[in-house]
Amino acid sequence: MLSQRLANLEESATLALNAKVKALQASGQTVYNLTAGEPDCDTPAYIQKSVAKALDQNKYTPTAGLPALRYAIANSARGFYTAKWITEDNIVVTAGAKPALFAIFQVLLDPGDEVIIPSPSWVSYKRQVELAGGAVVEVPLRKNFDLDAKAIAKKISPRTKIVLINSPHNPTGLVFSAREIAKLARVVKDKPIFVLSDDIYARLVYGDDYSPITTQPFNKDRLVIINGFSKSQALTGWRIGYLIAPPAVATAVAQLLSHTFGNAPLPSQNAALSALAGGDQPPMLKDLTR
Ligand SMILES: Cc1ncc(COP(=O)(O)O)c(C=O)c1O
Repeated sequence: MLSQRLANLEESATLALNAKVKALQASGQTVYNLTAGEPDCDTPAYIQKSVAKALDQNKYTPTAGLPALRYAIANSARGFYTAKWITEDNIVVTAGAKPALFAIFQVLLDPGDEVIIPSPSWVSYKRQVELAGGAVVEVPLRKNFDLDAKAIAKKISPRTKIVLINSPHNPTGLVFSAREIAKLARVVKDKPIFVLSDDIYARLVYGDDYSPITTQPFNKDRLVIINGFSKSQALTGWRIGYLIAPPAVATAVAQLLSHTFGNAPLPSQNAALSALAGGDQPPMLKDLTR
């Protein structure tokens, strides 16, 4: 009875295992949960309080997000990515990073288009690409888990539409080296290929040299960044993320969302505003670094 599109779809292995662990814990067993990427600390109290104060706000917001939030995200991203070109026109706020990824594949891919993904990779990329009609081309990471830009170059074909990178990387936890990121920038330069950078863990870096692709000289009209507050602000359950894309792509994403998921929940947008006003520093970074 289900559509052909869903023929290969199964529940995310991470979330299925997470549910299993929680059920075992609820039954009284001691189980250490290394499944979902979820900080085991509370959302900072000042964020909780600021949301509680704004509970009388309960209407739709613009699909792309509250103007003040898009402005604040752009402001923070300009500094974090050393990227003067980022403005609120590049930002679309979503209900977590997952819908941002889903939307970008829907917006950029035609049937048969290829997405190069370093492997191993986070479980949902492949399924999301396939749901958009695309095909995944996996390129193994190097032996030391770094990106392999040369191997990626060899896999580029006329059907390649996106090269996806994810640093710090899930599942290895490794930060890709500046050398390989620079090489990748040279590989895709002047090609009609988007770089999709899933930076959901980028604010949780423990001293390693983090080198965002934004610092490389290549066509910013072909760059999409996925980010959010789930991991860095312990807001996983609140569902709040965003993407940074060329304005025409951001507009297409907002149009798609306007017919599908709608705006991100307003209390969660207020939480993100409060996090950014507090400096957007992960509250648990010091503890995790020790
Ligand atoms: C690499 C990666 N990207 C995206 C996500 C999704 O994040 P969110 O909870 O904001 O949808 C996760 C969550 O586990 C992840 O590990």
